[in-house]
Amino acid sequence: MNNIVLGEDFFSGVASENGELIQQKNKFEDIMVWYRCAIREVRTKLEVLNDEYQNNHDRNPIDNIKARIKTPMSIYEKLIRRNFPVTLDSILFKMHDVAGIRVICPFLDDIYTVADALIAQDDIHLIQLKDYIKEPKPNGYRSLHLVVEVPIFLSTGKKLMKVEVQIRTIAMNFWASLEHQIHYKKDQEDVEDVVAQLTECANIISQTDAKMQEIRLQLEAEGKLRMD
Ligand code: GTP
Ligand code: MG
Repeated sequence: MNNIVLGEDFFSGVASENGELIQQKNKFEDIMVWYRCAIREVRTKLEVLNDEYQNNHDRNPIDNIKARIKTPMSIYEKLIRRNFPVTLDSILFKMHDVAGIRVICPFLDDIYTVADALIAQDDIHLIQLKDYIKEPKPNGYRSLHLVVEVPIFLSTGKKLMKVEVQIRTIAMNFWASLEHQIHYKKDQEDVEDVVAQLTECANIISQTDAKMQEIRLQLEAEGKLRMD
């Protein structure tokens, strides 16, 4: 039943109200609830790690956490773009970013502290890791991307759900947020110049991230940080 192909109408909410589509719609809503539950599981894990670290080190490795579920239309467009059949099975088995969590860390090393601690948990299964910090995208984009599978427990049993976790510093997030807001046309003549300028900004920000971490590590090593 999860192989039934769904049209654009289904996702835009104007599907004709026949029995089969209503059934599909209920199933789609069920799946979105599963993704929301998966986000809650991962968010709680991250909050627990943050509290524990705060208690042991007087500092938070996580500044803030944001989460989102992909909109139905955006799910539809991505399946079409990737040439997958538009079915509930495709959403569950071909997509990995229906549930997304963004973790913003103060310092560079916090990213790996958080990622390692999350991946080490025995109910978390790492599906994919992309380190755009060690290998930034050509435009300078930096972030650590994980796709993890987390169990959620329903009355009918256990489901393993995929969640995309993007972990970046405050500085990386500053760049990514602004770059995302600059909707430049990719087909204009001077696009290379625009990209070069954005990359330059990303590189400056990256040097600042490295410097701030160096200062913190130095002061930590010398015992010169206030503990309050
Ligand atoms: P998508 O189809 O975009 O999901 O691509 P993908 O599955 O290959 O994943 P990728 O590793 O490229 O990362 C996807 C997500 O990372 C995007 O949805 C953005 O949130 C973020 N991202 C990736 N590249 C950039 C970038 O150049 N600028 C900004 N601002 N965000 C980016
Ligand atoms: Mg995506």
